[in-house]
Amino acid sequence: MRTDTGEIIHLEDYRETDFVLERVDLTFELDPTDTKVEARLIFHRRAGVPADAPLVLDGDELTMTGLLLDQEPIAASDYEAGATALIIRNLPESVPFEICITTALSPQTNTQLMGLYRTNNVYCTQCEAEGFRRITYFPDRPDVLAVYTVNIIADKATAPLLLSNGNFLGGAGMGDGRHFAAWFDPHPKPSYLFALVAGDLGVVEDTFTTASGREVALKIYVEHGNEPRATYAMDALKRSMRWDEEVFGREYDLDIFMIVAVSDFNMGAMENKGLNVFNDKYVLADPETATDQDYANIEAIIAHEYFHNWTGNRITCRDWFQLCLKEGLTVYRDHEFSADQRSRAVKRIAEVRMLKAEQFPEDGGPLAHPVRPTRYREINNFYTTTVYEKGSEVTRMIATLLGRDLFKAGMDLYFERHDGQAVTIEDFVACFEAVSGRDLTQFALWYHQAGTPLVSASGTYDAARQRFTLALEQMVPPTPGQPTKEPMHIPLRLALVLEDGSIATPSAVTGGELTGDVLHLTERSQTVHFDGISSRPVISLNRDFSAPVNLHLERSAAERAHLARYETDLFARWQALNDMALLALVEGTASVRTGEPLTIEPALIEALLVAAGDETLEPAFRAQALALPSESDIAREIGRQVDPDAIFSARQQIMAAIAEAGREQFAALFEQLAPSGPFTPDAASAGRRALRNSALTYLVVAENSPARAAKAFAAADNMTDRIHALTTLAHRFHDAPETTQALDDFKTRFADNALVIDKWFAAQATIPGNGALARVKALLADPLFNPLNPNRVRSLIGTFAFSNPTGFNRPDGEAYRFLAAEILDIDRRNPQLAARLLTSMRSWRSLEDGRAERAKLALKEIAAGAKLSADVSDIVERTLKS
Ligand code: TRP
Ligand code: ZN
Repeated sequence: MRTDTGEIIHLEDYRETDFVLERVDLTFELDPTDTKVEARLIFHRRAGVPADAPLVLDGDELTMTGLLLDQEPIAASDYEAGATALIIRNLPESVPFEICITTALSPQTNTQLMGLYRTNNVYCTQCEAEGFRRITYFPDRPDVLAVYTVNIIADKATAPLLLSNGNFLGGAGMGDGRHFAAWFDPHPKPSYLFALVAGDLGVVEDTFTTASGREVALKIYVEHGNEPRATYAMDALKRSMRWDEEVFGREYDLDIFMIVAVSDFNMGAMENKGLNVFNDKYVLADPETATDQDYANIEAIIAHEYFHNWTGNRITCRDWFQLCLKEGLTVYRDHEFSADQRSRAVKRIAEVRMLKAEQFPEDGGPLAHPVRPTRYREINNFYTTTVYEKGSEVTRMIATLLGRDLFKAGMDLYFERHDGQAVTIEDFVACFEAVSGRDLTQFALWYHQAGTPLVSASGTYDAARQRFTLALEQMVPPTPGQPTKEPMHIPLRLALVLEDGSIATPSAVTGGELTGDVLHLTERSQTVHFDGISSRPVISLNRDFSAPVNLHLERSAAERAHLARYETDLFARWQALNDMALLALVEGTASVRTGEPLTIEPALIEALLVAAGDETLEPAFRAQALALPSESDIAREIGRQVDPDAIFSARQQIMAAIAEAGREQFAALFEQLAPSGPFTPDAASAGRRALRNSALTYLVVAENSPARAAKAFAAADNMTDRIHALTTLAHRFHDAPETTQALDDFKTRFADNALVIDKWFAAQATIPGNGALARVKALLADPLFNPLNPNRVRSLIGTFAFSNPTGFNRPDGEAYRFLAAEILDIDRRNPQLAARLLTSMRSWRSLEDGRAERAKLALKEIAAGAKLSADVSDIVERTLKS
């Protein structure tokens, strides 16, 4: 039964509930196909609400088996139990009353993975955003905060572990093979933070003593046998808890904090109060099975969910339009955490790479929406990179504009003022206005106007007057529903790099505001002057990526090279190198398309090789310098009539030129950086592996033979090196016997480890070229492929659609049709997963005409599908709309 009505929800329609929910008492009798849920809800009518106003509760695919008002049955004429709502009339006017609802659920057959479901014989819940209404009828919205008591009854042999939010009250056997446990969460919370887990799991235990001396029990639950793979997550958790105390002054607030890792999960993880539930991909790690990237992700996501305890749970969202209030802010917090734990510059480079690869295309395509949207049809589709990553950038800009101390004061005020409340972006921004005295009205446009601003700048130097003049312009492109835009308040960090390589950070400017090294661009066009500049400078603008904008700067190749050489802000130095490479790749693509020979500036190759060999720089940075913009980065820069094959060819030729020129240097690096001791996952060691593997890639290109990669594969003593060698082999020599051998060895060795087998699928799904589709289809038939497991579906179908530009965009459009068929199939089981996969088509309009036409036809096939979910129909309609 589909319960979505396809209705559009508007921010301006927000109003409080008529009834206040005081308390929630839940009892679960768990059974795979016949779970009984009893919900006792105490309400009272809000003052001023008319006596005839009914109580309206949300529901989704529910079977109600009982309904009582103050323990008496309700007359059939006084209620209506529908597909999406339970409406009860004739309720007491001024005294609290209890509604008791009984529902019957089948967790075993819940393939949507929302509400109560089963994964690997474990009962678990996922309630954000609107999953609680799949458990019982309820005022399922984030501004309804209540205290919960939860009783769980289950078979003791198969579910010895019974968990919910808050503190454990007690439990006992029931004499009939069943047992029960009771939990009480003293913190009022919205239903989306409810969680229940029951099953047979192993545990890793530790304790944490808070700054004020309270001891907190820490438990991470995993499948039996996986306990050793959860120790890194535990370490990351303790570091997160300490960091939040030290940097944000936030302590944990219950006696126990639990994390459960499950293998079937729609997203990364969920911050349920005191009981986080994780995709096991973001918990489990050891050197044999996890890459350095996996370790970094685990650290970041453990931190992210933990940090939600204050930014999301203690202070939550008034409604789902405010999602960035918790997500953008919490991403900002986890970014800062990782920057402090690792290398700040390298972390920033990785963040910006990801922002540009994922958020910029969203903001520039049919799915563009403001960080704080004003309308939605399906809220699941708004857990986007715009809400999360751009939301984080907006928070970062507040910190940049106000400076560290005022930002901290604003956060402190936010925690103090709004603890225990469900609030809005306006409430958040008001705290920073209050502590700084600044008017942030214009700045707040970052929440309301979609689209990536384009900043164009050009500089002129007047030697006689020792004056540097910078002319700036900003343009915010039109986006769906927002044809015209106001100018934004854009904070641009800057420095002037002088002829001798020294850096001048001007202390004054005329024609604009400068605070520290931050220039405030607030007008549509603005000209500023810097005086006392003793030699012709090269301007470095948007240092540290202080604003999430596209920047067009008139600059010569020599000026770029100057920045690449002398910038001391490592992010900006990387940016200069990346700009040089991107320009060469775009020009190279044009040459490929016109059939001209490709010419490569020696200055680019030299700059990259100098950075790669500079031992004063950390290896992780040098690896970032060597990593060319991806095919999608190049496509985005080209913007229209994109031909993925031409991009691929240009990129290969440029890589080959770099590889040839740097052959000896790469060989030396590869030897020098060989592992010298046992594997450790720390950032410095990871950086050495990254640089060594980058050298390996270029060497393999230069040698044009699988031998070296095959040898590296055989010699690898950790997953980072092993999967890098395997991917290099598969991508470049997919038909070589060495590759077949390596793929088989890998599969045999890791056949019983799902997370590693995901990597095996992904490595093959990304093999470029026209053969990719046949390969993906063959892999779909592999016995290890499991269409019910989201990680597996993403590793094969998702990786193919998102990360294989030549294979997915084959000119005949067959891969689009393949994806359309898969989406329609997946949608019947798991709409959230299907809708997310479909966003891989969001840039179809920038393809050359032939491909664009075929993509459009495939999208229309999806749109015409019978019984589409709200999730998929929302995405497909917006993607097609012009
Ligand atoms: N709130 C979660 C986070 O960002 C993510 C989340 C939202 C989620 N909806 C979900 C996770 C549905 C799993 C399923 O931390
Ligand atoms: Zn989050």
